[in-house]
Amino acid sequence: MCGIFGYAGPEARAEVLIEGIKRLEYRGYDSWGLCLAAEDRLFLVRRVGRIGAVDGSPVNPPSAMQNPPSAMQNPPPAMQSGIAHTRWATHGAPTEANAHPHADCAGRIAVIHNGIIENHAALRASLQSKGHHFTSETDTEVIPHLIEELLKTEPDFPAAFLAAMKLLVGAYGIAALWAESPDTVYVARHGSPIVLGVAKNSTLVASDPAALVTHTRDVIYLDDGEAAILHPDGFETRTLEGAPVSKQVQQVAFSLQDIERGGFPHFMLKEIAEQPESIRNALRGRIVRSEGTAKLGGVEEDLLRKARRCHIVASGTSWNAGLVGKYLLENLARIPTQVSFGAEFRYGDPVLEPDTLVIAVSQSGETADTLAAVREAKLIGAETIGICNVFGSSIARECGKGIYIHAGPEIGVASTKAFTSQLVVLSLLAVHMGRMRGMSLRAGLLFLDALERLPAQAEQIVREKEKVAQIARKYASCRDFLFVGRLYEYPTALEGALKLKEISYIHAEGVQAAEMKHGPIALIEPGVPTVVLAAQAEIRDKMLGNTHEILARSGKVIAVAREGDEEMAKLAHDTIFIPKTLDPLVPILSVIPLQLLAYFVAVERGCDVDKPRNLAKSVTVE
Ligand code: G6P
Repeated sequence: MCGIFGYAGPEARAEVLIEGIKRLEYRGYDSWGLCLAAEDRLFLVRRVGRIGAVDGSPVNPPSAMQNPPSAMQNPPPAMQSGIAHTRWATHGAPTEANAHPHADCAGRIAVIHNGIIENHAALRASLQSKGHHFTSETDTEVIPHLIEELLKTEPDFPAAFLAAMKLLVGAYGIAALWAESPDTVYVARHGSPIVLGVAKNSTLVASDPAALVTHTRDVIYLDDGEAAILHPDGFETRTLEGAPVSKQVQQVAFSLQDIERGGFPHFMLKEIAEQPESIRNALRGRIVRSEGTAKLGGVEEDLLRKARRCHIVASGTSWNAGLVGKYLLENLARIPTQVSFGAEFRYGDPVLEPDTLVIAVSQSGETADTLAAVREAKLIGAETIGICNVFGSSIARECGKGIYIHAGPEIGVASTKAFTSQLVVLSLLAVHMGRMRGMSLRAGLLFLDALERLPAQAEQIVREKEKVAQIARKYASCRDFLFVGRLYEYPTALEGALKLKEISYIHAEGVQAAEMKHGPIALIEPGVPTVVLAAQAEIRDKMLGNTHEILARSGKVIAVAREGDEEMAKLAHDTIFIPKTLDPLVPILSVIPLQLLAYFVAVERGCDVDKPRNLAKSVTVE
């Protein structure tokens, strides 16, 4: 989704702004732009496509805004502040005119925005009737014009800026420049993430702390309904009503190295390979052997003890993790559990009985639909907990209670390590809630033992990635894939198909194995390979049955099987073995070869793995 970066200080240069938004590239974008301010003037660049890949040079010289048109003929020696934006089109096609920043009529105010202004049509009509001239189809462009209009009556720019914010309906994270205060960046947040960075001689703003870490680790998360004014030597924070608010400076936990590729050709491969470590991090300090349970500091025991039902809300890969969570909670803790897409929960009519615990699962903690589901659940009166990766994210804060998965920054658009860490945390939650509800100490300990073996087992799978690469090359030209699984492996089948679709653009379907005969089996033919997930001990024979059915129809089978399952290996055209674990934990291991399969197929097809077409890492709009 859109990314925001802003800087007030002595290094206000195009390269610094570009480096900032490049760190947000992973969120997905189709166009970008920046604006610099100095000596009472603004300088604007807007482009479609890759950041900095303009005319073969890192950035075109900033061209002047329409007013004054000749500004760039005498650019000032140094700029004082700047804002930059990556756009993922919602209102209006990805064109230069629709790229941010947007300006007012006089070219004195520049605005970047993340989110959606729902009342933009009414505002635009009213501003047009007052003589404002619009040059884009975006909802965002109403903002600079609105501020320009309000400047006629408000005493100063901050007052006009805040007054404009209060007229906007929808979601926004906004940063603005005003030519007359060229060393200042104005910021506001309502529903889209905004984080400030405090460095030695500069103050920064971004929609994600990943954009700030080259400058500082000291950050301040703005809350909804708050605004900030940034100067090179500090900042003020206020409510949108103008009342001062004091905010706490926090430390970003990850380093620059964490968000760089570290020798891997793609972030996705790096993140797949990091799973032994990220699984270990999700477990760290949370296993209480003496009691055969887990310790989850961010959630009160009482809340978990009194829950009689769980309702998991999530989107995308996190929803697939949520479905595994349902099986875990029902199986280990005997708690009836439902899983909803955030959007369905929000617009459906969810029945939340008293003592239903709503669990929001989200890597980014910013997915608009999941966040809205949390808000809806709170309105209905349910207790909510978050399972998030990004510290201080909107969902984490909205829930107030929760469990961080500690996977580290996930940059590749296709989620990998966050999925396995979500499963680890859901497993810990399930064993903990199970132990509160009569699960034996012995069963608890067995489960914890199996959890503790996972990092080394994941390591073994990642080490054998070349085998998966060979299989991927063999099937990379196929147009359709099926993934079949049962019980814990049904969500894995959905996730395997999702990974392949996302990054290789091959049509893929995840199918509950017993449902094959109710329709999907009609698709089987030699050119349609089926990935059979056969690593759960309990239902392995059933998967053998599925394999026979597929082979009888001349289908190709790629099996993911338990180590030593030679019978399966003999039947299937290709087999990937995974180490033995308990059935509920199988998805944590079996998804890794599926991630690798998708990755190598996409590479073989020449796809842009880390930035797949049409997708965004963090979907902060409905
Ligand atoms: C986007 C991403 C997916 C992700 C989904 C939910 O669609 O491309 O990888 O699974 O959002 O994101 P969340 O941050 O809530 O887990």
